[in-house]
Amino acid sequence: MSDDQVLLDWGSGVASLTSSGEPHRRRERSVDATGWRAMASSPDSLPDTSSEPPCDAQWWRAAVIYQVYPRSFADSDGDGVGDLPGVIAHLDHIAGLGVDAVWLSPVYRSPQRDNGYDVSDYQDIDPSFGTLADLDELIRELHRRGMRLIMDLVVNHTSDEHPWFIASRQNRTGATADWYLWRDARPGTIPGQAGAEPNNWGAAFSGSAWQWVPERGQYYLHLFSVEQPDLNWDNPEVREAIFAMMNWWLDRGVDGFRMDVINFISKDPALPDGPVDRAGYGDGTPYFVYGPQVHTHLAEMKRRVFDHRSGSYLRVGEMPGVTPEQARELTDSKHGPLNMIFQFDHVYLDQDGDKWTPRPVSVSDLRDTLAHWQLALADSGWNSLYWSNHDQPRAVSRFGNDSRYWRESATALATLLHLHRGTPYVYQGEELGMTNAPGESIDDFRDIESLHHYADAVERGEDPTVVLAALRRMSRDNARTPMQWTSGRYGGFSTTKPWIPVNPNHHWLNAAAQVRDPHSIYYYYRALIALRHQHHAVVDGEFVINETGRDQIYAFRRTAGNEAIETYVNLSDNPVSIDELEPNALVLLLGNYPESVRDTTRLAPWEARVYRRRFG
Ligand code: NOJ
Repeated sequence: MSDDQVLLDWGSGVASLTSSGEPHRRRERSVDATGWRAMASSPDSLPDTSSEPPCDAQWWRAAVIYQVYPRSFADSDGDGVGDLPGVIAHLDHIAGLGVDAVWLSPVYRSPQRDNGYDVSDYQDIDPSFGTLADLDELIRELHRRGMRLIMDLVVNHTSDEHPWFIASRQNRTGATADWYLWRDARPGTIPGQAGAEPNNWGAAFSGSAWQWVPERGQYYLHLFSVEQPDLNWDNPEVREAIFAMMNWWLDRGVDGFRMDVINFISKDPALPDGPVDRAGYGDGTPYFVYGPQVHTHLAEMKRRVFDHRSGSYLRVGEMPGVTPEQARELTDSKHGPLNMIFQFDHVYLDQDGDKWTPRPVSVSDLRDTLAHWQLALADSGWNSLYWSNHDQPRAVSRFGNDSRYWRESATALATLLHLHRGTPYVYQGEELGMTNAPGESIDDFRDIESLHHYADAVERGEDPTVVLAALRRMSRDNARTPMQWTSGRYGGFSTTKPWIPVNPNHHWLNAAAQVRDPHSIYYYYRALIALRHQHHAVVDGEFVINETGRDQIYAFRRTAGNEAIETYVNLSDNPVSIDELEPNALVLLLGNYPESVRDTTRLAPWEARVYRRRFG
């Protein structure tokens, strides 16, 4: 297959394999034959893109990663739940974007209390998703298309149905007795009664973070739901078991791990009470967000799992609450145990104290927060870039305008993110501009966090319509409605009623329609991803903020060697004047408005432009 065929054939894949069978990304020579390129500039004015790509050992620096939440991606066997064969059947949709890797949310055996983030067997696939043979086929099919597979690694906690925990809860002397965080009741209290918990911490999914187990006569810690007991990482046997399991997956052919709340694995051994929050529980985060051993444990993981291997594997840590300084240390290219982390500062901006009390976000707050991380990790460390994932509301509904400026704001937000320094992540459906769900009644929700919050808030006497309004805005289910493949029944996700309602807007918002439309959001993402693969400055260029129009605009420049890429994004519903952009010095690489309305002194609502500056 020639390069040209690969690039112009929709969905035919973009890769070749090296002789060792390792996925190998060819550099793509052009965006493609879709409208965005034509809107941006003529092929003759495109820049020379001959600069060297970063070396393969750090492939993830020039990569874009696509997240699949398998439960909601595609159902192949008509049970209403997405599965691995469904993912395999739609790989050309993902490959068509030009992404480099897929992060797969958990498919391990699990009672599914938290949709797989509660694992009962790390070395098997849950029957609702398929089999190990399906997973092997997924690896093969991804590698064949030049993409890598990043597995989710959920090892802060297991399911309470994991055999380790089942044994641990029985008594204090068995083989895994000390594999979880067991504690006696608070001195002077009656064990098992309210107030006897070892400390006052609340769990992320409501209630106390402690659960009493009569047969053992102790409490166990669960930072999330009661069905997700926290592992005791200070026990070397626990670490040994986890490292062996990770090695088993890497030997099987996976290309790295996204590590779930991995900064929570080390707790202050004193487990002190925390300041009491609105729900009446103590906030334990100061004692587990960046605990005393986290760095040491992750450094050991790197040594034991990755350092002896010749390949280059991705290690990305999900890390709510870490500071830029901690992130620098963790992701330093010489000494850091990780390649990059997911920080949360920008997705906390619209929360007033807790996620169920939303507040508006100003453009200047958003840009200052994102820019702060860009600058903090400028000369050491590396950023992950994201708007969306399975835990966040849909970006276009949250930070954009999902009605009047749906297409414009979805593409504006994408432009801003993808032109930053770091590795961008695209969450399934984001490339179509999928929106929040209508969530008309509590019966439309499935997420453990949302359902627990609703029950607790209503029990406390809060108005159910107000609680529902907050869920509609912030619930994780907004991201979990089925992928909208077609305008047909159930959005082409399944042949039967899906486990969670399909967003009714699939009638017009779906992949099939966007693949037919050269000006779709899907093709805009493809053009953006190609920009990263073509321009060294997009990957590695220094980030310099431009203070123009702070209240509406986010503008910045990326420079590397003699290349400078400038991005201008209007993050508002109103047009905004800008200083005259120098028509002779700038070559437009990409824009989300047609040329006929483009003006060098004004940005239209949610207009985004990416220019290359000519030197000399
Ligand atoms: C973070 C995951 O992204 C989320 O979905 C999950 O509920 C918690 N960690 C607990 O595993």
